[in-house]
Amino acid sequence: MHRLEISLKQDAPSSQINIGRGIRRKLGQMLPLKTPRRVGIISNKRVFDLYGREVVRSLKAEGCKIFEWLMPDGERYKSFRVLEKAVTFLSENRFERNDLVVALGGGVVGDLAGFSAAIYLRGVPVVQVPTTLLSQVDSSVGGKTGINLPVGKNLVGAFHQPASVFIDTETLTSLPQRELVSGFCEMVKQSLISDRKLYDMTVGCLQKTAAKRDFLVSSEFEDLIAAQCGFKASIVANDERESTSRSDARSRRVLNFGHTTAHALETITSYRTFRHGEAVGYGMLVAGELSKNLGLLDARDLELLRDAVKLCGPLPRADHLDSNQIIRALQHDKKNVDGQINWVLLEAIGRPRIVEGRLISAKALRLSLRAGLKVLERQ
Ligand code: NAD
Ligand code: GLY
Repeated sequence: MHRLEISLKQDAPSSQINIGRGIRRKLGQMLPLKTPRRVGIISNKRVFDLYGREVVRSLKAEGCKIFEWLMPDGERYKSFRVLEKAVTFLSENRFERNDLVVALGGGVVGDLAGFSAAIYLRGVPVVQVPTTLLSQVDSSVGGKTGINLPVGKNLVGAFHQPASVFIDTETLTSLPQRELVSGFCEMVKQSLISDRKLYDMTVGCLQKTAAKRDFLVSSEFEDLIAAQCGFKASIVANDERESTSRSDARSRRVLNFGHTTAHALETITSYRTFRHGEAVGYGMLVAGELSKNLGLLDARDLELLRDAVKLCGPLPRADHLDSNQIIRALQHDKKNVDGQINWVLLEAIGRPRIVEGRLISAKALRLSLRAGLKVLERQ
């Protein structure tokens, strides 16, 4: 069992991250808030059928009155329509400022439930109980919440820090393989921009998981999740709002490593071909090639990057995609500032660097896309 704290602004309460096998069954007794109170669980049917009853039992044992609301499953439901239903559920059940929202599910549930909690009565507390690997190491930590617009992902949202995050590694045992691959890619991303220690720890665990899936519930894998969350928490504590005026190696913007190309791939395939982490896998390969072509990254570190992405598992093919279409999508990315693409590149493992798009030639970009989107040969 691990417990981490993220301290943000001086006057704001810190956010706790609890990690442990089977921790969902102790949620009630571990809540950081006074009980009993009304708790609104937002989840989806798939996750609630697997884990909902145990969470409800643990909260009821502490005297909480439980209300549940299940949203439909899928990225397309991270929408205004579903958001309206979520806040209507809270208001119809007369939720007050001291009541609590619990988000039980992957990143889609976490983002929508978190945003509902951010705007209902101008903010009620939320506890995140992430059940996918991606949401455990990334989306549940750091307070970004939001929904999509028809023209793009996560275009409407708010920063709303969870009072607590409860990460139960047992929930990973029911995850489909592609969801695991997607989470592994986000872990590799964080390790590449963090330091060699997290890289080695991540690669070591990926090798052990490939040999034996049960490794996901080992204490060593739990240590890895804690180290990954600890890294993300350190970035968030230092730059909670992702300031656009910062471009140093520890600004929140570096968490977007691999995301520039990833968003372009997701956009041109209408979000149907790649899981988000899979697209980030390709995004890191392209960013690595670009870093090498600009003379920032040496061939040995590029190989380390490629090895780590390979270990995540197979990615859907991307070598048939039209590079002109990808480049057009890159130019419309929402992360662009003053019309500029801001690439997060690498100088070495653990040394990210933000580079403005105008400093990158069209030739270097095309070469890097071609090399990065090739099928990765496995040993
Ligand atoms: P997801 O929430 O769609 O979950 C993937 C699938 O797994 C869903 O079908 C879900 O029902 C199912 N599932 C969840 N837990 C399960 C379990 N334990 N066993 C079996 N099935 C389970 O996808 P995701 O990858 O978790 O999240 C992606 C979302 O996260 C995107 O909307 C992305 O924008 C968002 N995101 C947000 C942040 C942030 O900082 N807020 C960061 C990264 C990604
Ligand atoms: N997933 C990127 C961030 O939280 O900033």
